[in-house]
Amino acid sequence: MAERDVLPVNEVYHPGIGNYRQIYRESLEKVDSFWERHAQILDWHKRWDTVLDSSNPPFYRWFVNGKLNVSYNALDRHVMHGRRNKAAYIWVGEDGTEKIVTYDGLFRRVNNLAQALKNLGISRGDRIIIYLPMILEAPVAMLAAARIGAVFSFVFAGFGEGALSERIEDSKARMVITADGAFRNGKVVELKKIVDEALEKTSSVGTVLVVKRTGTAIQMQEGRDIWMHDVTEDASAFVQPEWMDSNDPLYILYTSGTTGKPKGAVHGNGGYSVWIANTLKWAFDPHEDDRWWCAADIGWVTGHSYIVFAPLFLGLTSTMYEGAITYPAPDRLWEIVERYRVNLLYTSPTAIRTLIRFGEKYPRMHDLSSLRVLGTVGEPINPAAWKWYYENIGRSNCPIIDTYWQTETGGFMIAPSMALGLPPLKPGSATFPMPGVEPVILDENGHELGAGEKGYIAYRRPWPGMFLTLNNDPERFRKAYFEKYPGMYYCGDYAIRDADGYYWLLGRADEVLKVSGHRLGTIEIEDALISSKEVAEAAVFGKPDTVKGEVIVAFVVLKDEYRGDTQVVSSLRKRIREELGPIYVPEEIHVVKTLPKTRSGKIMRRVVKAVALNQLPGDISTLENSASVDEIREAIEAFSKEAEG
Ligand code: PRX
Repeated sequence: MAERDVLPVNEVYHPGIGNYRQIYRESLEKVDSFWERHAQILDWHKRWDTVLDSSNPPFYRWFVNGKLNVSYNALDRHVMHGRRNKAAYIWVGEDGTEKIVTYDGLFRRVNNLAQALKNLGISRGDRIIIYLPMILEAPVAMLAAARIGAVFSFVFAGFGEGALSERIEDSKARMVITADGAFRNGKVVELKKIVDEALEKTSSVGTVLVVKRTGTAIQMQEGRDIWMHDVTEDASAFVQPEWMDSNDPLYILYTSGTTGKPKGAVHGNGGYSVWIANTLKWAFDPHEDDRWWCAADIGWVTGHSYIVFAPLFLGLTSTMYEGAITYPAPDRLWEIVERYRVNLLYTSPTAIRTLIRFGEKYPRMHDLSSLRVLGTVGEPINPAAWKWYYENIGRSNCPIIDTYWQTETGGFMIAPSMALGLPPLKPGSATFPMPGVEPVILDENGHELGAGEKGYIAYRRPWPGMFLTLNNDPERFRKAYFEKYPGMYYCGDYAIRDADGYYWLLGRADEVLKVSGHRLGTIEIEDALISSKEVAEAAVFGKPDTVKGEVIVAFVVLKDEYRGDTQVVSSLRKRIREELGPIYVPEEIHVVKTLPKTRSGKIMRRVVKAVALNQLPGDISTLENSASVDEIREAIEAFSKEAEG
């Protein structure tokens, strides 16, 4: 393996992993006592009987029979014990408007909405969909649901009508909480209209609660649609929290997989909460008076765990920003850091690479001296972006906490640990596992690989934040994650462990794409293309991109009657935008006459990708129609010429 940089971290951070090693070892050797102690980061209504029940793998259950409420831990206990007037969120609108909500203010808003949900007939175990932009009503809705024991499924506000209806259908949601519109890049996204369209295809939803945000004209359907402000007028409401079993579901979050429709990862109340509170503390070591800013969207797991639940469990003050990081100018992030004296900033490699393009001028316009720790998440960070972040944003003074994890893992799995002893950092490595996490690098046949050898990363044991199952599909849960390596959790990524024991995450090993850090399934895009009236066949893959990590490329064969139609590509783009959402729209769509296929008629996506990227296509002995390979090459050449011209 090539030599990698090792950066010494500023002396003040006491580099060294002595304490970490000891704690890590204890977490593996004394599982029960370790987690007995660390579960006390939360207040429990009733103590658990068993720390970990492994009797029915892979359905591991943590803190069995323990009872607690997530909103109680996020709010009530802070209101009662000294944080009543502390800011929970400093919210910044895309237009620069500021709103500050204290723990007491949030507590009252959550109780108010919880009461409204009950009045509207929602009760423990019911499912609700939350389809909201980055406004304060988003955490309020999540906490209100958790307070009454309703299971929520948050749908990222960038998703289109097809993605939304699929999630409503699979979760059998009784209610949708949405807004009239969302502000994004100075424009309005008409969310309520998308909900109306999605609801035409589904039948479980009886009520739509609508937040007024943009003032966009919308249709309110009599008997179904209700303004949020009309049902949350009782500011003095108090709703007794439902005491939930540790292993009752808290939320379902849909994420892309290798095959079929998105999978509904189900997270529970107890283990998940213990995991995210501890991992935030270990990795970032936030202090009582710090300002934390997780600049992700609440609609993804990063927002669930580290904008909403974990920082509130720890009683922190978070910054929350509504809009795009380059709107109205590329210094938006730095301006907010300066204005609110943010201490801990957590963002994505794509955000960093996007801002690098605008140069150092923008960060230099602002005083970033409040920053103490920087974090990244969502995709591998290339050493050049790491160094830019370290030098220009952290002034070579702030450690970079590269956190590697997934929707399914609930919280960080591999990350440097500020609180337990920071190792010397290597740009591009997420360093070492969190306590309780036991990774292993394996070859295709399950043999463990040595230092520097690239393989698949898996985990030998369960950890408290592990998802409970897939909604409606426990069999797919077992098959997708626990079958490849029996007894272990397989996560679909490539990795290397170097000779010093550092982990380097190398991206997906399957058909899942990471576009600007968003996890998308090639299969979902192919399905959307094939279900359009024009397309007969489609092959989609990811092409490396210096800013977004990957971009989507599609090759399509049109049905006879659409051949030669010059409008077809733009109508396909439009369709994908509406159906799945703007993040799914391919950067390139190439029309060809045939696609490479095996003799049994299966499209060889691997060959399409290799030829299009000018790589060796590997074994093509089973290829039926070799002319298709030339056609792909020609399409790419024509495209590059056009782009140059
Ligand atoms: O490929 C890994 C990549 O993101 C995938 C998980 O995506 P998602 O479930 O959407 O969760 C994203 C936020 C946690 C992983 O399988 N990934 C995530 N973080 C990193 C990463 N790859 C490399 N380094 C990371 N820090």
